[in-house]
Amino acid sequence: VLVKSKEIIQKAVQSGYAIGAFNAENMEMVEAIIEAAEESNSPIIVQTTSGTLNITPPERFCAMVKSVADKVKVPVVMHLDHGDSFERVAQCLRAGYTSIMIDASKKDFYENVKITNDVIRMAKAVGVPVEAELGIVGGKEDGNVAEKEAFTDPYEAENFVKQTGVDFLAIGIGNVHGVYKADPKLRFDILQAVKEKTGDVPLVLHGTSGIPDEDVSRAVSMGIAKVNYATELRQVFTKAIKAYIDEDPGVIDPKKYNGKAKQAVKELVKKKLVILGSTGKA
Ligand code: 13P
Ligand code: ZN
Ligand code: NA
Repeated sequence: VLVKSKEIIQKAVQSGYAIGAFNAENMEMVEAIIEAAEESNSPIIVQTTSGTLNITPPERFCAMVKSVADKVKVPVVMHLDHGDSFERVAQCLRAGYTSIMIDASKKDFYENVKITNDVIRMAKAVGVPVEAELGIVGGKEDGNVAEKEAFTDPYEAENFVKQTGVDFLAIGIGNVHGVYKADPKLRFDILQAVKEKTGDVPLVLHGTSGIPDEDVSRAVSMGIAKVNYATELRQVFTKAIKAYIDEDPGVIDPKKYNGKAKQAVKELVKKKLVILGSTGKA
């Protein structure tokens, strides 16, 4: 069933687990993610970046997710990941998204506050929760390369939360989108300081692919309540297709290799739900 993000994330915060937010690119990935949640009796978030929506528009993506979510008992959220403009958010709200991120983290603090507040005002009018970002997650998401990650300043985070009333806050603590070039080193000291300054606001970890499971668990125990995975899903999806074609180079029917790719994503998502502690919490 399709729900808004606030209820499931707040419940997770209170009980000490986190909600997995998984990026989908196509129907097989949507089905894999939601079926993994249903079989794990776990709440879940399906999300699409602005780049994905440049290929498949929000009404089409949302209709697809809703049609799968309507068939399951577990709570499913349809979230806009890294929303890149006020207009994009408006389109997703109209399409039926039940959660929104506006990412103005590359702008200066005051501009970030202003854009975030504009989006919150619009989303609040239709009861949809909003995630924003402060500090920069390194690496590449949607072809947008951040030259370097910028750690979230705990005092700025406190001011940002006060000045926006944002529902969830994504932070930079050494996390990087895509593949880590060096071993990931999360700054748990910064996470703790941000948590102390932002109180009840659930925090979001981006760039989670490549972070060791123990570090993810530790971050969850310290106040991370939404955990984003994209790259690892793309990797297992593509690897399964390559393996199928290597094995059967004459294959022409997408049903065959897409089925394998879907299965691979589903298994991965189920493992992540165990790490996040949301299995059995629907
Ligand atoms: P990864 O691709 O590193 O898992 O990051 C996912 C993410 O943050 C999506 O917003
Ligand atoms: Zn991200
Ligand atoms: Na990553």
